[in-house]
Amino acid sequence: MPDETEGSVTRSLEKMKLADGAQGGGQEKKTATADAHKFWGTQPVPQLGDEPPLEDGYIEPSKPREEVRQDAYPLPKDFEWTTVDIMDPTQNKEVHDLLSLHYVEDANASLRFKYSEEFLRWALTPPGYFKEWHVGVRVSANKKLVAFIAGVPITLRVRGKEFAASEVNYICIHKKLRSKRLAPVLIKEVTRQINLQGIFQAIYTAGAVIPTPISVCRYYHRSLNVPKLLAVGFTFVPRNSTAARMIRMNKLPDTPTLGVRPMEEKDVASVADLFARYMKRFDLAPLMTLEDVRHHFLSAQGTGTIGDGGPGRRVGQVTWTYVVENPATHKISDFFSYYYLPSTILHSAAHDMVEAGYLYYYATDVAFEDGAEADGRLKNRLKTLIGDALVIANQAKMDVFNALTLMDNVSILNDLKFGPGDANLNFYLYNWRTAKLAGMSDEGDVKAGMGVGVVML
Ligand SMILES: CC(C)(COP(=O)(O)OP(=O)(O)OC[C@H]1O[C@@H](n2cnc3c(N)ncnc32)[C@H](O)[C@@H]1OP(=O)(O)O)[C@@H](O)C(=O)NCCC(=O)NCCS
Repeated sequence: MPDETEGSVTRSLEKMKLADGAQGGGQEKKTATADAHKFWGTQPVPQLGDEPPLEDGYIEPSKPREEVRQDAYPLPKDFEWTTVDIMDPTQNKEVHDLLSLHYVEDANASLRFKYSEEFLRWALTPPGYFKEWHVGVRVSANKKLVAFIAGVPITLRVRGKEFAASEVNYICIHKKLRSKRLAPVLIKEVTRQINLQGIFQAIYTAGAVIPTPISVCRYYHRSLNVPKLLAVGFTFVPRNSTAARMIRMNKLPDTPTLGVRPMEEKDVASVADLFARYMKRFDLAPLMTLEDVRHHFLSAQGTGTIGDGGPGRRVGQVTWTYVVENPATHKISDFFSYYYLPSTILHSAAHDMVEAGYLYYYATDVAFEDGAEADGRLKNRLKTLIGDALVIANQAKMDVFNALTLMDNVSILNDLKFGPGDANLNFYLYNWRTAKLAGMSDEGDVKAGMGVGVVML
């Protein structure tokens, strides 16, 4: 961005310093956290220190379309709103470039997520997506994209209640435009666009703590390429170990243990059925139609054959979904999926990227066998199944495999040699009250992880 534009943009943002609450139409109630959180204190979210609700439900009722604000929230004069068409390669690349330079970094600013163009196309176009929920901000003078936020439709079950919601993600503001209260304007504009489609609830995650997490999960990491992870400072040799010992400890078999094969179109119905039954284990879960299952697990497997995109990869491959087929019934008894999300290494001469796989959804029908949880059969099966995911990820030359303390992960992370990271991920619901869900810690009788069955991309 040329300096001159930058300067004037910054000046008008300074002038803007909008009263976040007042912008929403002026009716928002001030709450106890309003002073600490000038924006979130005015939003329909549980406020810090609120008691757990007696009953789950919305905070503000839904409105008919004509009562939803019809015009976009104002931006300062040097900026304009844009609806991003993520299917258009040029606009897709603009989002990709913005995120590549300005999106989430780790606490030490040594790594930054690098979402590929294929990834963004996949993540932002699930069945029934709305282009209008892909909201950008451009500098009027040169049309440069300087901020972005996106929502996609999701059907959620939270404890016993099911509802349509938006999954909001990828909020990103150019580094030069930070701390100027632009984030609340982006959030309000995407909320307005979501409301215009008759949706009044959302799910989102953040490293930041804002009012008020429904769950907190911790990242765990499983080293695959130890020499590289050591070289870039992602991991260290503990005092009582050596690099050679770490390599030996983390060595994986060359081939998977279960007879897994890549998921195909013919598996969609069987995977959907298994997934729906398995996800009942968790308090918070997505409900997926056949089209959703096809999109989330099958549509981003890249083109050509495995190997065309490098060892273990198709060209442009984003997800790896593998199934176990019962030879007698031809039903799918197990599946796992992981996605590929590299990070740019910001200060290493030796390497420029960490190739990372992230555990996505999985299921096994061992969960439905009598007593399988109590006698350890389920845990053993999951260890083998996710162990196979590690083998497949290793074949695809991932350097590290990441997972959160959600779903059944907690029971197998240690055995599979994952170690805790230093980052937490907070889960949030917009305009929905529910008591805390078990993430990194137990909640009441619910074991850690079992509260959360949504994996955000
Ligand atoms: C996250 C980001 C968009 C926030 O923008 P910013 O310029 O730092 O913050 P602004 O001054 O515009 O707005 C501050 C308000 O936004 C809230 N906010 C900050 N990060 C947020 C997040 N990730 N989600 C929701 N709200 C957030 C703040 O809590 C504050 O509101 P409050 O006063 O009620 O507490 C920006 O820092 C960024 O692009 N970071 C890199 C990408 C990133 O981390 N994205 C979030 C992924 S979850």
